[in-house]
Amino acid sequence: MLVLIKETYDDLSRHTAGMIADRIRRKPDLVLGLATGTTPLGLYRELIRLHRNDGLSFARVTTFNLDEYIGLPRTHPQSYYHFMQENLFRHIDVDPTAIYIPDGMAPDIDAQCEWYEQQIVRRGGIDVQILGIGANGHIAFNEPGSSLGSRTRIKTLADQTVKDNARFFKTADEVPKTAITMGIGTIMEAREVFLVASGAGKAAAVKAAIEGPITAMVPASIIQMHRKAYVLLDRDAASQLTHTFRG
Ligand code: F6R
Repeated sequence: MLVLIKETYDDLSRHTAGMIADRIRRKPDLVLGLATGTTPLGLYRELIRLHRNDGLSFARVTTFNLDEYIGLPRTHPQSYYHFMQENLFRHIDVDPTAIYIPDGMAPDIDAQCEWYEQQIVRRGGIDVQILGIGANGHIAFNEPGSSLGSRTRIKTLADQTVKDNARFFKTADEVPKTAITMGIGTIMEAREVFLVASGAGKAAAVKAAIEGPITAMVPASIIQMHRKAYVLLDRDAASQLTHTFRG
């Protein structure tokens, strides 16, 4: 596990984008796992800039998103499908047939989860998985208590996640209470994992994940078991670390 601490959110976003660009240049048909939320917005802006100004091409890249709300149509402004279109996909040259996001409107959700796992395998597995971290230590929608070996499946959102995500909806009542999420076991099969966190609000979760014990109560702590994990932080997200990570 390599912990990289950057001074600001912008530095963090630029650095993470540079690492991804490097992977795409070395392997143009990279299979890239993506996250939604506030954290990767700067990273996506930077990837778009690299595409426009530096010729970074996503034409052969395949993407797999971590999760999607159940019951929101793709056209809903808060669906993760919509989020990805607006914040990344429509600005780059990615092949629309190589974009995978779980379908939260699928008539048979279990079959959809199974299908999603099969597509990851069919595309050769995920090379680089980008992760955010919830204030409660979740990764994707694997909330505290999730099996560390779990696969893509339905999860009920923790109360704190519903509250955290209410900022994107008019009221907390409108936040879907269930989602399809890649499992922790699925995420751990990615060849590299980049966990990105920004801001003081994530400092306690980051500390628990990388300096605490590995436990299902802090799903992100499983990253300690990954063979090639990077934890990319800004100063504020790193502010509670007490070990050797202050470089
Ligand atoms: C989103 C996802 C979530 C977020 C996490 C942090 O696809 O998987 O686990 O990464 O909730 O969200 P932000 O970045 O909004 O703080």
